[in-house]
Amino acid sequence: MNHLTTIFVLTVASSIMACQSTTKEQTPPRVNHDSAIDKQLKQIIATNHLTGNAMQGRSTPDIKSPKAQLGMRLFFSTSLGGDQDSACVTCHHPALGGGDNLSLPIGVAAERPNLLGKGRLTDANSHLKGVPSVPRNAPTTFNIAAWDEVLFHDGRLESLGKTPSAGGNDQQGIRTPDVAFGLRDPLSGDNLVVAQARFPVTSPEEMKGFDFEDKNNQEIREYLASRIGDYDDNHGHLSVPSYWLKQFQTAYQAPTASAKTLITEQNIASLIGTYERSQVFTNTPWRRYVEGDKTAISESAKAGAALFYTAKQAGGANCVACHRGDFFTDEKFHNIATPQIGNGKGDGADGKSDFGRFRETKKEADKYAFRTPTLLNVEVTGPWTHAGAYTDLEAMVWHHLDPRDEVTNYDVSQLSQPNIANLDKIQVNTQPALEKLDKDRDAGLSVLQNIDLKDNQVAQLVDFLHTLTDPCVKNRACLAKWIPNESEDPNGHQLDAVDTYGDRL
Ligand code: HEC
Ligand code: HEC
Repeated sequence: MNHLTTIFVLTVASSIMACQSTTKEQTPPRVNHDSAIDKQLKQIIATNHLTGNAMQGRSTPDIKSPKAQLGMRLFFSTSLGGDQDSACVTCHHPALGGGDNLSLPIGVAAERPNLLGKGRLTDANSHLKGVPSVPRNAPTTFNIAAWDEVLFHDGRLESLGKTPSAGGNDQQGIRTPDVAFGLRDPLSGDNLVVAQARFPVTSPEEMKGFDFEDKNNQEIREYLASRIGDYDDNHGHLSVPSYWLKQFQTAYQAPTASAKTLITEQNIASLIGTYERSQVFTNTPWRRYVEGDKTAISESAKAGAALFYTAKQAGGANCVACHRGDFFTDEKFHNIATPQIGNGKGDGADGKSDFGRFRETKKEADKYAFRTPTLLNVEVTGPWTHAGAYTDLEAMVWHHLDPRDEVTNYDVSQLSQPNIANLDKIQVNTQPALEKLDKDRDAGLSVLQNIDLKDNQVAQLVDFLHTLTDPCVKNRACLAKWIPNESEDPNGHQLDAVDTYGDRL
């Protein structure tokens, strides 16, 4: 470019710029034209003190940190299963919404241990005879760090202090199933998630198997730690014991420490908890809307949000009575009488029922009450309810609006998972919960109201629920950080999951 052309280009450019700037000056100052529904939601957002961010005020680990990385390898390792055929990831895979996509989970004794999701079957020749053996649906591990009060459907893991935003990490400590209701477990670890990680390995159906019935909970944990660490002469030596030792030495920055001091059951739980707590998926369209982007969600979803947050008297669906705050849960227990499918927890006359929170508190008021689930990423965390009874989000919403009617007309064909027990007795097994709901309503003790909504209003509610999905949870490339590369464990214990077509998850 010669000198003259440069001047010419600059002149043209500056006159274009000048022209643009005049146009700009002529535009009237921007006013935020909120539509009527935006105004209504603005009010709702203020009244409910919503920020859009369920992790506000919390510190969570980075998945790239060495401890989260090691926690991930432990989470994906069948070496923590008694018979080395089940891992945490068996029921909580990131590509399956942090769950397993099954109504009722299958842990040990699967026909194909690394096949997860639809098509996973219990081995018909095992003593479980092909029946899914875990009586409750696996909740998602996504955003697990946002719980402050209780974990599990019945809250049997409970923060005694319940300090907001502390995740159970406060002075009062944590009650676990290893101690009596209301007491502190001195071995719980720092927070609810770490405390939880010490329990699946003690459950025969989930991970332990049935060959270790002579060991109590603490004995089985210590046995597993010594088996991974290859110390205390604990049978079945690893072909490459240095695999785990090196990783623990790196994660704890203790290059010369021994396996016995590093590879302890307490450290294992803490590492797994660190990995799980790094699973933060809160960048939802609804969050963007709450933060001010009026175009982040559709008009139909806005109408659904208004229904969600508005009381029945004012024409709403009053979902916020229980699903409140940025995490969409009050962390309390309610009986909403969802269909009791499967084998139950051994409660009731025939042992096929599940008394929920009552199992812990022994208070009549808590019978059939289950913890209010979060609704963040609910689109990908189905099947829904404590027993995985609903496989369709719309039906799940309808259930709340008239539980008796929905249970009476419950469509069993939605359960595509084979061999779920007691399907012919759903009405019978759910009846006591429905009767209790009637009684509670008469006594003014239930906040669940029957509500008449039109089809299009239920569709709007479902559209709103879909705005609670962080796009990352539907994108394998985005989730890759939380899934280890194939076959990293030279001992062959890493569970590299495939779906029913044999494709890698
Ligand atoms: C066989 C399936 C299975 C396996 C394996 C399994 N889980 Fe779970 N997980 C469940 C079920 C079912 C529940 C709910 C149990 C209940 O509420 O009674 C649950 C609950 C949880 C929760 C509480 C979630 C909440 O919202 O309250 C966390 C966290 C969790 N599991 C993490 C783990 C970890 C860590 C491991 C491995 C050490 C593991 N799970 C292994 C099925 C499984
Ligand atoms: C009385 C409290 C209460 C109210 C009001 C309520 N829910 Fe729920 N909701 C629950 C409980 C408790 C469960 C879990 C029931 C179970 O596990 O059996 C649940 C489950 C759900 C689920 C399934 C989530 C999962 O992970 O299993 C969805 C979706 C849902 N509710 C949406 C709604 C919507 C939409 C409304 C308003 C129409 C609403 N809820 C009103 C208490 C409530």
